[in-house]
Amino acid sequence: MQSARLPDNEPVRLEKLKRYRILDTPPEDAFDRITRIVAETIGVPIALVSLVDSERQWFKSKHGLEADQTPRDIAFCSHAILDESVFIVEDALKDPRFSDNPLVASDPSIRFYAGAPLKTPDGLNLGTLCAIDRKPRQLTDKQRQLLSDLSSIVVDEMELRIALRSAMNDVAEAVKQRAIKDEFVSIVTHELRTPLTSIRGSLGLLDSGAIKDIPTEVNDIVALANRNVNTLLALINDLLDFQKFQSGQLDMDFGAVDAETLARDTCENLKGFAQEKEASIRVEVESEATVVGDAVRLAQVLTNLISNAIKFTPTGEEVLVKTGLYEDKLRFSVTDKGPGIPENFRGRIFEKFSQARGENKAKGTGLGLAISKAIVKAHRGSIGFETRIGEGTTFHMDLPLRQTVL
Ligand SMILES: Nc1ncnc2c1ncn2[C@@H]1O[C@H](COP(=O)(O)OP(=O)(O)O)[C@@H](O)[C@H]1O
Ligand SMILES: [Mg+2]
Repeated sequence: MQSARLPDNEPVRLEKLKRYRILDTPPEDAFDRITRIVAETIGVPIALVSLVDSERQWFKSKHGLEADQTPRDIAFCSHAILDESVFIVEDALKDPRFSDNPLVASDPSIRFYAGAPLKTPDGLNLGTLCAIDRKPRQLTDKQRQLLSDLSSIVVDEMELRIALRSAMNDVAEAVKQRAIKDEFVSIVTHELRTPLTSIRGSLGLLDSGAIKDIPTEVNDIVALANRNVNTLLALINDLLDFQKFQSGQLDMDFGAVDAETLARDTCENLKGFAQEKEASIRVEVESEATVVGDAVRLAQVLTNLISNAIKFTPTGEEVLVKTGLYEDKLRFSVTDKGPGIPENFRGRIFEKFSQARGENKAKGTGLGLAISKAIVKAHRGSIGFETRIGEGTTFHMDLPLRQTVL
């Protein structure tokens, strides 16, 4: 008897076989169906999906055979994997390589063997799909082709398992990441935002003068603390929003939104901030319109645009907020007389955490415009700007006039 030599690429081949994680797994219909087709169409009692491991051949599917595996050194398949095409032994008794092989001399008494290599896409023969008979015979060209085609299907099935496993890993990883993010959001919300909101309540009460006879110095400290808490809360809310929009959880509550009310209410809320900067806000309503949208989220966008404008407008100047029709859209625009946006920053301005260089980072997160863009996009609208260095900037938000409620 002659044992087969090892393939030249044996270590790589074994490594690849391990990666399929198929050895010693339970039988599966997908493979059993194929061996059954081989047995029935070629007309042989035994058909196998055999994988050649380092010391054994192991059967992923076995039609007409009891054993799960046999030693590699007596396996016909060890020879077959050295071949590129279907390996055929028509009569083992007449073949000196196999005549005294125990699988020929005794059970299962092989006479005829035909094995098509299971070739991976990168050209490694992991085993065979083989047809075995207990009497000598020949294979027609058609049967040879069938065996070869079915062996490719066996490999496809194995590939599919790798692809599925990798997809499941991706999903598991995504679920894990999502869990981490959710945990982050819940920590920030409960450990930071909730206590801060309550601190703001108390500070706001002190700052409003509701409690009499507080010394002036204390009042100043309270006012400062109140401002800082408000800034911190705004920052936390930005972070939470950004987190939500990144994980696709930016919920929208759509309804009818009146353009003028939205513009006027938002400006009214920002009056205090403008006064601090000794700037003023003027509202111009060119035409009345109603859109479908989330009033709170749209106000958030306008608030960001207007507060950015106030931040950059020189003391004593005016910020102009306009609403009107532009082409077939409703346009809100916010114009300031600030320094303009540096050319090299314009392309990145809507990216997260982006602020023009040299700015005092403590004043904002650089998330406002990224969140604004996400909100406008959820309304199927668009946001953009025109700017001139030394003259000022106009940001505009355009919303479709007719849109269905989602
Ligand atoms: N009206 C404006 N004029 C000049 N620069 C602006 C204006 N609006 C935004 N920017 C620039 O874009 C950056 C990002 O704005 P934004 O996303 O709202 O974040 P933040 O307000 O937290 O800094 C600002 O820090 C600033 O550099
Ligand atoms: Mg901002």
